[in-house]
Amino acid sequence: MSIDGEAFKAAMARWATGVTIVTSRAGDEIHGMTVSDFSGVSLDPPLVSVCAAKSSNTHGVIQKGRVFSVNVLGADQQALSNRFASKKDEFRRFEGLDCETASTGAPLIPGALVSFDCRVVAEHDAGDHVIWVGRVESVTQGGGEPLVYFGGGYRGLAPA
Ligand SMILES: Cc1cc2nc3c(=O)[nH]c(=O)nc-3n(C[C@H](O)[C@H](O)[C@H](O)COP(=O)(O)O)c2cc1C
Repeated sequence: MSIDGEAFKAAMARWATGVTIVTSRAGDEIHGMTVSDFSGVSLDPPLVSVCAAKSSNTHGVIQKGRVFSVNVLGADQQALSNRFASKKDEFRRFEGLDCETASTGAPLIPGALVSFDCRVVAEHDAGDHVIWVGRVESVTQGGGEPLVYFGGGYRGLAPA
């Protein structure tokens, strides 16, 4: 028996997450999208994972380039989150952004709370997504408060 897709989405919406932009590079091609399915995986070696829809352009670029960066967005970066999630102007998402290039070649999003520069060490088929596991080669620390996603909308952190 399988649960209804809408019920599953509604259930997952009760899980509060941070918001990241995952970028990648394959040769001259750079791409990136908004991702909430990010997780730390291992301390030694340092591993993280991201889940990318097989239908996404970003998945295709990670598949070719075998690198990605995860950029954790700050509370003031909601517009960037929307830009990197929207299909409108999907190949112009980096326009006007002054991105540094990480050692893997993946672009780093300016103003992020923290960025993880990763090289792919494993990929796991998972339904309509692929779980990409990356070894963290470097971390770039920013600062500030995180952008939070909950119930299908953006939130900020509040003291408990
Ligand atoms: C808050 C938020 C979180 C998202 N998380 C993911 C995610 O974890 N994995 C994913 O594949 N898509 C996620 N998306 C959807 C992609 O950002 C969106 O489909 C994007 O247009 C894909 O771009 P691309 O096909 O150019 O790579 C998320 C969107 C939003 C707004």
